[in-house]
Amino acid sequence: MTERIVVVGAALLDAGRLLAARRSAPPELAGRWELPGGKVEQGEAPEAALVRELREELGVDAETMERVPGEWPLRPPYVLQVWTARLRPGSAAPEPLQDHDALRWLTHAEIWDVDWLDQDVPAVRETLPKLDAGTRAR
Ligand code: CDP
Repeated sequence: MTERIVVVGAALLDAGRLLAARRSAPPELAGRWELPGGKVEQGEAPEAALVRELREELGVDAETMERVPGEWPLRPPYVLQVWTARLRPGSAAPEPLQDHDALRWLTHAEIWDVDWLDQDVPAVRETLPKLDAGTRAR
């Protein structure tokens, strides 16, 4: 049986907005927007991988909140799993340090203004109710 490799993506939420990151590479993905994240390493917990990826890619100190239900196939052997996440107190604001050349905090009304990677679209759709919940809480 072929191993599956989990790619974790973060629905990073703040004040009812979701962070979208524009990929700068590879050429076939450049210019498309994604939930930031990356591959889980062998022996690594997915939540730990996500915190690591967010530190590496965006320079932030984040924590995961909950798993977004579902799992979405990428190019084999990769599958995408998504967690909601938030910045920890005292974290720097996200910056596009690696893999990305632009970031946007999107309100619910703006969610479909960016050209999401096809494979991220169902995951983004699943996170929308959580975004609204976050908005109401403030
Ligand atoms: O940073 P790392 O090399 O671990 O992973 P990556 O290159 O950011 O992502 C691994 C693969 O997952 C790539 O083929 C991405 O296109 C894909 N991916 C995705 O489809 N959606 C995301 N939100 C994140 C990654």
